[in-house]
Amino acid sequence: MAQWPPDRTPNVAPDLPTIPPSAPPDPIDPGWVKGLMEEEYNARDWREANELALLALMDIQEHWGYVSEDAAAVVADHLGVELQRVYSLVTFYADLRTTPRAGNVYIACDGAACHTLGSGELVDRIFDRLGITHKGQTSPDGRVTVELWSGCMGACQIGPMASVNGRHVGFLNPEKVDRILDQLQGREAGGRAGRQAESWAEVPRANKGSAIR
Ligand code: FES
Repeated sequence: MAQWPPDRTPNVAPDLPTIPPSAPPDPIDPGWVKGLMEEEYNARDWREANELALLALMDIQEHWGYVSEDAAAVVADHLGVELQRVYSLVTFYADLRTTPRAGNVYIACDGAACHTLGSGELVDRIFDRLGITHKGQTSPDGRVTVELWSGCMGACQIGPMASVNGRHVGFLNPEKVDRILDQLQGREAGGRAGRQAESWAEVPRANKGSAIR
């Protein structure tokens, strides 16, 4: 028989997933890019070359996680498009990145519900703390990349929320965000060592109102 009232306990991971060790990103292999271009991207005229340039950049990013200057140069050379034009595509489109993602990826939901619940203030705090200024950037220590998701992640009931290394973390407030960043940056604040299993989902809901002001 169905339970009433329904159990609204959020299905949130009790702790963060094991954080993978930071590994230097693989440099993009120019030979791979050249092979891709020769096989998939052959333009009939300059107009088509301009269109294909963006598609090629997206392909490269999908495979390597970013587009390096060298990779952009191979694209420009193959298509006969000005290098400056290809660079401008990489920097203009928010979905394209020029630097690789860190081992830790924090994707803050900024959909309507989470925004109403204070996600904007939390993102400002994250940017300040990590010393970054815009989405997609990686902290100077190379530990954390912060992305912003402007659509809904489908977990409004635990908002404001984020996806941290692929795991949903909800009921965020400044204190909780600090604890998450402590862990992602590899340090435990104030003698918290050994408490990593502390439940991220168990920060009392009552704290949320004051926390997101
Ligand atoms: S708006 Fe953030 S999960 Fe729905």
